[in-house]
Amino acid sequence: MTKKIVEKFNELRHKDKIVILGIETSCDETATAVVENGRILHSNVILSQIPLHQKFGGVVPEVASRNHILAINGVIDKALKQAQMQAKDLDAIAVTYGAGLIGALLVGVSTAKAIGYALKIPLIKVNHIEAHVCANFIAHKDLTPPFLCVAASGGHTSLIAVDEHNTYNSLGGTVDDAIGEAFDKVARLLGLPYPGGPEIDKLAKKGAANIDFYKTPKSINKDLRLSYSGLKTAVVNYVNSAKMAGREIVIEDICASFTKQAVDLLVDTTMFAAKERGDKVIALAGGVAANTYLRNRLQEETQKAEMDFFVPSLDLCTDNAAMVASRAYFSILAGTDLAGLDLNAKSNVKVGEGR
Ligand code: KG4
Ligand code: ZN
Repeated sequence: MTKKIVEKFNELRHKDKIVILGIETSCDETATAVVENGRILHSNVILSQIPLHQKFGGVVPEVASRNHILAINGVIDKALKQAQMQAKDLDAIAVTYGAGLIGALLVGVSTAKAIGYALKIPLIKVNHIEAHVCANFIAHKDLTPPFLCVAASGGHTSLIAVDEHNTYNSLGGTVDDAIGEAFDKVARLLGLPYPGGPEIDKLAKKGAANIDFYKTPKSINKDLRLSYSGLKTAVVNYVNSAKMAGREIVIEDICASFTKQAVDLLVDTTMFAAKERGDKVIALAGGVAANTYLRNRLQEETQKAEMDFFVPSLDLCTDNAAMVASRAYFSILAGTDLAGLDLNAKSNVKVGEGR
């Protein structure tokens, strides 16, 4: 990292207006966005590869990397165009470096390095799960830490204490499958297209949550450890034994019952943690935050407990680059996460890692 870039990075936080280009390629969305001061969205471009992966029933990493390469330059141009800006208007570039699919991440990381180098602007590395939390700052201009965030996606299920803008601590989460992964696997078992979460959400609305697949523990795990692999296996066993016995299965009821059990576990654990810690504000983030039952239940529970509840709009819940640019803004203010040309992609990154 050159001295000049470090100087530029340190001067940035004193500017009134910081414009950041965000890049996100950790999974199957090639996304770019231009965000000002972490909260003002100038553009948000998301090119989803879902149709390409659907025929395989899930994301094929090689196909994802290849298509990110094909798409990345076009979506960067589009983000600048939509923002009515030019490269010279950018103060910094932010990129998701982990967690995610390594080949997919590398496309974003390499592109961001090249742009940072060419424009001589700071490159900020962003943790994907922390970025999900920041979608809330774009959606809710009045939200400020401290708050407890439930980050629920295809790769993560974490309870995160956001004590300050740059202080993230994981309090607990899943010890096996992520909640979104469980949604996707159950959907696949039921013959629903990828990604399964939105499909199960739709069908659950027409079904009755009357199937008890799994005896979930009656008391909350006080270490805030969650598990989804047992529930997933219980659904598999239920479906297989019904098929073998020639019993009719009602997909809508399975979707409603699975959703209820998966979401209740997350919501009950979250409310337990928030009450123990004395949190007054709860935020929801990640792709599974798009789930209707989850949004409604957290809304109801927080209302009962007289807490404030924040959740981003649907397009900011699933993967996007606006959240990446937002996260980077707060790193700039705190003087952390400046990356050099030796930045590498990482498939696994913990919340708060490297700070
Ligand atoms: O955050 P995200 O876009 O990517 C990751 O970082 O993983 O989350 C994708 C996950 C998938 O598992 C998808 O099935 C799930 O979010 N998802 C949903 C809904 N919309 C997306 N799960 C349940 N209900 C939904 N409405
Ligand atoms: Zn994500």
